[in-house]
Amino acid sequence: MIILGIETSCDETALSLLQADGDLNAPHFTVLGTSLFSQVKIHEQYGGVFPMLAKREHAKNLVPLLSNLLHTAVSGTVIQLSEELRLEISTLLEREPELRDAFFPFIETAPRPNVDMIAVTQGPGLEPALWVGINFARALSLAWNIPIMPINHMEGHIVSPLLTKTTAELPAVALLISGGHTELVLIETWGKYTVIGETVDDAVGEAFDKVARMLDLPYPGGPQISKLAEEERANPSSEPLFSLPRPMLHSNDFKFSFSGLKTAVLYTIKKRETLNAQEKQQLAKEFEDAVTEVLVAKTRKALEYYGAKTLIVGGGVIANIHIRSSLEQLKKVDRELVLLFPTFDLATDNAAMIAMAAYFNHLTDKKPVNGHKKLKALGNLSIASKSLN
Ligand code: KG4
Ligand code: ZN
Repeated sequence: MIILGIETSCDETALSLLQADGDLNAPHFTVLGTSLFSQVKIHEQYGGVFPMLAKREHAKNLVPLLSNLLHTAVSGTVIQLSEELRLEISTLLEREPELRDAFFPFIETAPRPNVDMIAVTQGPGLEPALWVGINFARALSLAWNIPIMPINHMEGHIVSPLLTKTTAELPAVALLISGGHTELVLIETWGKYTVIGETVDDAVGEAFDKVARMLDLPYPGGPQISKLAEEERANPSSEPLFSLPRPMLHSNDFKFSFSGLKTAVLYTIKKRETLNAQEKQQLAKEFEDAVTEVLVAKTRKALEYYGAKTLIVGGGVIANIHIRSSLEQLKKVDRELVLLFPTFDLATDNAAMIAMAAYFNHLTDKKPVNGHKKLKALGNLSIASKSLN
């Protein structure tokens, strides 16, 4: 099966072509091609993602990215659109005029690729941004007569490590750590996800980004904090200056909270007139240590409580090398534990993981949407939702 993945939930416009075969016990994936445009530089000046700007950028970039990607695809012939279909697609893309203007010249010259299914992120994410991807998928589906499988972005993060690994032994626990989410998910069977704990306030990536802003570091702040913390680890100060709380470390549940930690950083900064470079490094390290300790402790507890032998970690924050290596230490506690991390390019938002999730959905008998009109962006879609369409 060949799947075209489309991801526009936040600030990456991402497409991918994935070949998938095998069954749930041994799925096998080959990425035939990817095409990604990161809007980070555009949003940097606002210190965060600006939804309407993200929408406009997606609308501008989708057609050129697809055109680029299709060079890697086996293709058939150019499809001639009927007047009726043309009108339907034109109405569908009314709110994205830039996308519409690029769509018709493209579709009238590009041979239909040999694609069996279109996978598009339905949510969670920024709704204006999600809609562009969804409308693009609908337009392609109409023009090329290819079914659409709507995908939960977080399920994409869950399956992302399985691109290079064999499937996970279930039950598994997934730790999802991104800019919008921090949650522990129990996976008893594929497609059935139970949120066993989540953050009561900020997501961990959000906390990294906010603390980075307090330290005058550019957006996205996660990698910047990580860099400072690594410098401190490589060349430690003689005397530790800061001590931050480990929120909810000992709470008797699987919940997280990072807003108090963020505020503690703010007070620490306010107490001093300025922070020199060494102090910034120390504070970044102390913050990263606090976050890591909590993530590792709660994850360990969840693995033990549910007797899970597999830990899957997904989401942009797992690009953090300290968090990654600290979670690896869990193998010392349970030597049979299988740890599944995505490769670095699959840790942050991408479309290969969306196409992979579509294959898992297909294997668990979820049907593609019947009638694209039912497809809606769902900004707050939960991983625990049963039906996406
Ligand atoms: O999964 P993702 O690409 O997008 C969302 O779905 O949110 O995650 C983005 C988040 C941002 O908050 C970013 O700062 C964080 O992941 N991040 C990191 C690192 N790389 C990205 N956080 C800590 N350390 C990193 N190295
Ligand atoms: Zn994400």
